[in-house]
Amino acid sequence: MSKVALAEAIDIILCYNQQRDSQHHIRKASMTNVICICGSLRKGSYNRMVMKALPGLAPAGMSLTEAPSFAEFPLYNADVQNSTGFPATVRTMADAIRAADGVIFCTPEYNFSLPGGLKNAIDWLSRLPDQPFAGKSIAIQSASPGPLGGGRVQYDLRRAMVFLDALTLNKPEIFIGSCASKFDANSGDLKDETTRNFIKQQLEAFAKFLARHGTKG
Ligand code: FNR
Repeated sequence: MSKVALAEAIDIILCYNQQRDSQHHIRKASMTNVICICGSLRKGSYNRMVMKALPGLAPAGMSLTEAPSFAEFPLYNADVQNSTGFPATVRTMADAIRAADGVIFCTPEYNFSLPGGLKNAIDWLSRLPDQPFAGKSIAIQSASPGPLGGGRVQYDLRRAMVFLDALTLNKPEIFIGSCASKFDANSGDLKDETTRNFIKQQLEAFAKFLARHGTKG
């Protein structure tokens, strides 16, 4: 190879590396948008309190906001879907999920499984042609006044997410047992340091998971 050709080749490699580094820098600098779905509809929900604590525990570069509500979803009925189409509330939530880089569920356990409202929401969303959970990165947290912190709901939710081709973070798992004592009775702030640290670890792991598996699904 002549000296000129060699110099040109080195220039091309240097230029390529600079472009790659600056793209990497842009990726690192941009925010990761995660939306949170609370499985409970009640005003004083502990799981909602957990969800509200998340922005303060998130690593730099991760923004966490609440997903549009499923409170007004009708009960799933294929006849309704076929006659009048998908309700606007369902489409709004689906759009928010599609636009997010990832989804975190904060949910109670009802009768060893998913709360009916959350399951109904997932059932509606799952019938959309551009199913919003497909390829989406998911993390799960649950809180309960009981000792196990909703251990069983998480595995039922994981199973539904398998069917929907979501990518669910395996570990760390967040089960907040005996949760009533872990929040400030007046403000609802999550005050238990051990729980806060576990959540921080999960959010850091989720940030890495999103970086590894892509974001928008
Ligand atoms: C419950 N609860 C409950 N807790 C639990 O740990 N395992 C369970 O299987 C159930 N089952 C159950 C069924 C139904 C219909 C209700 C209403 C409640 C108790 C539940 O964890 C508690 O009410 C929580 O406070 C609900 O979560 P939020 O609303 O505080 O987020």
